[in-house]
Amino acid sequence: MTNETETANPGLSPKVSKSVSKRAVVEVKDLRKSYFLGKEEVPILKGINFNVYDGEFLAIVGPSGSGKSTLMNMLGCLDRPSSGAVLVNGEDVNLLDDNQLAYLRGKEIGFIFQQFNLVPRLTAYENVMLPTYASKKSGIDYPKKAKELLKMVGLEERMKHKPSELSGGQCQRVAIARALINDPTIILADEPTGNLDSKTSEEVMAFFRELNGKGVTIIMITHNNELALRTDRVVTIRDGLITSDESVEEHAIHMKEALEASLLSEIKI
Ligand SMILES: Nc1ncnc2c1ncn2[C@@H]1O[C@H](COP(=O)(O)OP(=O)(O)O)[C@@H](O)[C@H]1O
Ligand SMILES: [Mg+2]
Repeated sequence: MTNETETANPGLSPKVSKSVSKRAVVEVKDLRKSYFLGKEEVPILKGINFNVYDGEFLAIVGPSGSGKSTLMNMLGCLDRPSSGAVLVNGEDVNLLDDNQLAYLRGKEIGFIFQQFNLVPRLTAYENVMLPTYASKKSGIDYPKKAKELLKMVGLEERMKHKPSELSGGQCQRVAIARALINDPTIILADEPTGNLDSKTSEEVMAFFRELNGKGVTIIMITHNNELALRTDRVVTIRDGLITSDESVEEHAIHMKEALEASLLSEIKI
């Protein structure tokens, strides 16, 4: 191991030990985003700064309405900042036109959403193939790859089923396979287990851990602190600003302290 890398402590999921490179795959610099309500400017993101490094498994947590999805849309090149910069693998997304942005998105990023966002009239297999119609590399047998990915997520027998014939957990696994078809360097997941029961959420989290062990950078947005504790690093957002950025161990300690403080104040010791 060179001094360019450090061993990431997998925290509360101690089974996988891996290296996180110091190459930033995402750089966020004084990112601001406002929406306009009529003529009134409503600031949502108010100056966000952080980097995500190659191979990290990171959670972005915060209460509902704090700006997590707005940030994810910016990281995923789905929307543009009002000011500040987002660099994805060194490319400043503000300097790209819409076509270049779509190309960068297709090449580097796999998306997973709370609502799965599968196309209802397409089969599981066709849904996984969908991103390849927009961008594909030569020399890759995508039909074969789509089948392999569906096998990997345990849906070999369900390839020809439509989303309405699949459970929520199965739909999310189709979405994960779809997110992987173009070999993204980054997976962006916005509340990926928000519509799943706890057992299925566990399966999805275990799957993310496995993917991360294979070197995929994962940025997972959640308002569920328990799930955040299954990642390696936790960035907290409140009201459009980062209020903490800490290792999962530090985050667990701070959560425990906050819980104890609130219990103590309740029983007024
Ligand atoms: N397109 C939009 N136009 C106006 N306001 C928006 C838009 N998208 C989000 N917002 C507002 O921005 C704030 C943050 O939203 P969001 O990023 O979805 O939060 P989170 O994902 O943390 O719940 C909310 O108050 C929301 O109403
Ligand atoms: Mg959201």
